[in-house]
This record gives sequence, structure tokens and C-alpha cells, in this order.
Amino acid sequence: MATPGVGRSPDHEAWWRSAVVYQIYPRSFADSDGDGVGDLTGIVEHLDHIQELGIDVIWLSPVYRSPQRDNGYDVSDYQAVDPLFGTLEDLDRLLAAVHLRGMRLIMDLVVNHTSDQHPWFLASRGSRDVATSGWYFWRDARPGTVPGEPGSEPNNWGSSFAGSAWTWAPERGQYYLHLFSASQPDLNWDNPETREAVFTMMDWWLDRGVDGFRMDVINFISKDPRLPDGPLTRDGYGDGMPYFSHGPRIHAYLAEMKSRVFDPRPGSYLTVGEMPGVTPEQAREFTDRDRGQLAMVFQYEHVSLDADGDKWTQRRMSVNDLRDTLSRWQTALGDTGWNSLYWNNHDQPRVVSRYGNDATYWRESATALATVLHLHRGTPYVYQGEEIGMTNAEFAGIDDYRDIESLDYYARAVGTHREDVSVVLDTLRRRSRDNARTPMQWSAAPGAGFTTGSPWIGVNANHSWLNVASQRGVPGSIYEYYRALIALRHRLPAVVDGHFAAVETGRDQIYAFRRHLGDTALTVYANLSDQPVSLDRKDRLARDLVLANYPASRRDPDRLEPWEVRVYVR
Ligand code: NOJ
Repeated sequence: MATPGVGRSPDHEAWWRSAVVYQIYPRSFADSDGDGVGDLTGIVEHLDHIQELGIDVIWLSPVYRSPQRDNGYDVSDYQAVDPLFGTLEDLDRLLAAVHLRGMRLIMDLVVNHTSDQHPWFLASRGSRDVATSGWYFWRDARPGTVPGEPGSEPNNWGSSFAGSAWTWAPERGQYYLHLFSASQPDLNWDNPETREAVFTMMDWWLDRGVDGFRMDVINFISKDPRLPDGPLTRDGYGDGMPYFSHGPRIHAYLAEMKSRVFDPRPGSYLTVGEMPGVTPEQAREFTDRDRGQLAMVFQYEHVSLDADGDKWTQRRMSVNDLRDTLSRWQTALGDTGWNSLYWNNHDQPRVVSRYGNDATYWRESATALATVLHLHRGTPYVYQGEEIGMTNAEFAGIDDYRDIESLDYYARAVGTHREDVSVVLDTLRRRSRDNARTPMQWSAAPGAGFTTGSPWIGVNANHSWLNVASQRGVPGSIYEYYRALIALRHRLPAVVDGHFAAVETGRDQIYAFRRHLGDTALTVYANLSDQPVSLDRKDRLARDLVLANYPASRRDPDRLEPWEVRVYVR
């Protein structure tokens, strides 16, 4: 079903190195039938927007059949589309429309776990005597304890959302492991039949014509088989990360996936592995082209700089830390390996509200952050709404939230730990994943042009002025700036292949770097702060300015204004 002419090159050329990816979170993108939830037809209707931005690849967050406990990251049928989003035929139509426009589409592959409603799990839970009995992690209660009572779990790991990582299944008389919610049991990759089932499913999608996969928490698929207790954390559970985030067989499994699924196919695919906790050294191994396990990974360091230990404990992000982290990853994956570049996704608060200034310097900080990101070496990702500078949700009360992680956190903080409600709400306002999930702001219409019905989650009130319609074709808008930035990548080979070197300016607020390729050198100066900052003589050298986020009339050769960015080429 692959569309001829698109996506398949005869060799294993790394086409994704020059690509820009756009992430769609389907439930919040565009609702074509007025039920308040975005759908596949809604996406088809808005492909012009994505194409005009200059996008090469769309990453579609999960649309598979799912009870939607974690908005589709809990899959109950990998080979069906959830009726909420449409049908398989709608998906084929979308794929064909994307290909017709010369773009590509990658699917979200959620195979560290399934939904607890997946037939594999339902059978496994019901009996030890079925084919899928060993497809999940089943363990007895700790010896000498009463099964099902707190404290009798097989180990002390906490789950990523809330509570223990183990749930008692009386039908089977055992506990099952879930690194996320109890509705997301972890698949046992040590079982060869489990792996084969996943690979067969991947084949099915590739045969349908998709161009690759974003792989959900793929570095968690190999667990230390002893499943040992982990060091205790603030919430009283053990941290299992040391035993599952880079487990003993992770390279073996990804190598097997490559040889079993991808190698037999002509052409090359975009594979990006989401990897919380991955180090630059590990990322280099995963993305080393000679090994060919993954095209790139999503690392977390630069989006963890404002968290102290766990995501709910805030600390101030310093520009020095940000610069150090970004340039360290650039250098570490400079010659071997490849970076993915992102600020936002469906799990992260909006970057303009988080690291930028969404009030006084909304436009300036959104464009400065975008410039820094897109002119790095690697493949940039734009999350829906980022291209118009969408901001955090500013929800008033707990009833506004929909996200399982946020609701679990609130229940624990307020219900169990008796924390102050206004403090907890303030934390959610800054940290909740729902900040990223409010409907795409297409227009100033009541449903923001997202829906004619009642949206599944509140529309941000600022859609009255912050929307696509008010920016498209408007010089100086964030949207038009993103277009220019993406066009620069497509025009200048130095943006794709240029060597990265940090430039020392002696100013804490400035992040400056250079990309060279042959005779071309591209230099970026960005003031990542609310204060103006003076420039040294050596940084004022006359060169060709190719991009700037302040108008010429406000550009002072001796200093950078708040959040001002300049890109020079020589
Ligand atoms: C990472 C996904 O991005 C997130 O949304 C999800 O909740 C977890 N993995 C579990 O699938």
C-alpha cells in the first residue's frame, strides 16, 4: 500500500537528517465531526497548514484502539483505529494525502506495555495456562506476606504515575508489573514470542506504507530479570530506573528489531526512541549509523533542568545549565550518532511559558527558543501549536484537568499527603501534561476553530488573539518566523550537516554557537533572558544577517535586546 515515489530510496540513505517533523496529538488537533475530540479527517483537512510550514514528516500520536486511560498510550488493539478518531480507511486516506504532498508519516509504537484490556493481557491475567501467560511480568507476593496487602508486592518499585508498580490479580493469584498506570501492564520482551508478535505488527504497519515509528519509552523494554528493589524515593517507593532504563538486553532487542523488521526492506525509515534517563554516551551507541539500531532518540536532560528530582518539585532553570546541556549533547553526538531536537511534546509544558516569557516577551522568546533549537545539528520536532507560540493552559481547578498523571498526582498530594490545594494546583498549572493538550488554536471562534461542539478539554482563553488565522501570512508573526527557520534548514546544507561549536561570549545570558560546513559558517547569537545584554567587539563583526527576530529599526549593533536572536552567515 506504499505510495509510489515517496519514502523509499533504493539505498539506506538517512533522509531524516534533513527533515523537520511535526507532532500531532490527534485528540487535540482538529475535530471534523463536532464530538469535541480531534480525529483523522480533521487532520486531513488541515494538511495545508502543515505543508505550508515546510514540514517533511508527521508523527502521529496513538490512534489505535484503546480504552483511553492514558489517551491512547494504552493500546488494546495495535491493528485497529479507535472509533474516537475514525477508521482504518480514514488512516489510509490520511497516509495517501500526506504522501501525495511529498511528506511522510510515522506512527507511535507503544510496546513497552499494552492496555490491560488487550486480549493478550486479558488471557494472561485469567490463566497461567494460555499462550500469552508469559508475555507479561507475573510474580508471586513476597514470601511471608499476605498477597494483595500493601507490602506484599514482589519489589518496592513505584510506578511513573502513582503508587506501586505492581497490581494484584486475584484471578491469577499473582502480581503484574506496570511501570505506568495499573491499566498499562508491561510486556515481557524476554519472551521470544512477545517480540515476534510486536515485530509482526510492525511489519503490518510498514506494509501499509508508514515511514517509521516513534517508539514510546523504548529503553524500558529490557528489565534486569532479578527485578531487585531500588533506592527509596521521596514518595516512599523504590526507583527501579537503574534496573530497567538501560537493561541488559536493550541492545540485543533493538538489534533484533533492526534485522528482523527493517533490514529486509528496501529504503530507510525514521525511527526515534523515546528514552527517559538516557546519557549522551548511551544515545551515541543507539544512534551510531554503523550499528543502525535507531535513527535518533529523545533524551530528557534539557527538559528536566527546572525539576528537582521528580517533575513536581520545581527549581529555577539557569541559562548556563541550559547552554551547557544543549552544547554537551551537540558535541557528544557530533560525529557519531544523531540528535533529535525538541522543546515540546504532549508530555511537556509549553516551552514559551516554561523557559521563555509568555507575557512581556511572548513573541521574542518563542522565536529565540525556536531559533536555537532548529539551528542545532539534528532533526527538529515541532509540536502542534508551538508554531504559533501556544502557552500553558492556566486551568483554575482540578475539574479542568483530564490527564491521568495529573489527576493521580493531585489525589496523592491532596488526599494522602494533605498538601495545600492551592499549592498543588499551582504546581499542576506549571507542570501538568495537560498544558500541552489544550485544543489547537485555529481561530478566534468559540471552539478555537478546533471543534463546533464541546471540547474534551478546555480551550485556552487566549485563542481570541493567539491563533493560526491571526498569524498566517502576517509578517513578523511566530508562524511566519517558523516558516523562515524551516526554510533556512532546507536551503543551507550547513544547518543539516554543519559541524557544531559553542562560541564563548563571556555573557551568561547569551547562548552562541557556530555551524560550519566547507566555506560556510553560520553563527547564532541568542539572548535567552529578559534583560538586554551588551555585545563584545568581536561579536559585532559585520556579516550577512540571514534571520533575526527584532526589526532592523530596533537592532543595536552593540547589544542584544531581551530574547533577541541573530543568525549570521559567512
Ligand atoms: C511516554 C508517553 O509520551 C506518555 O504520554 C505516556 O504516558 C507514557 N510514555 C506511557 O506510555
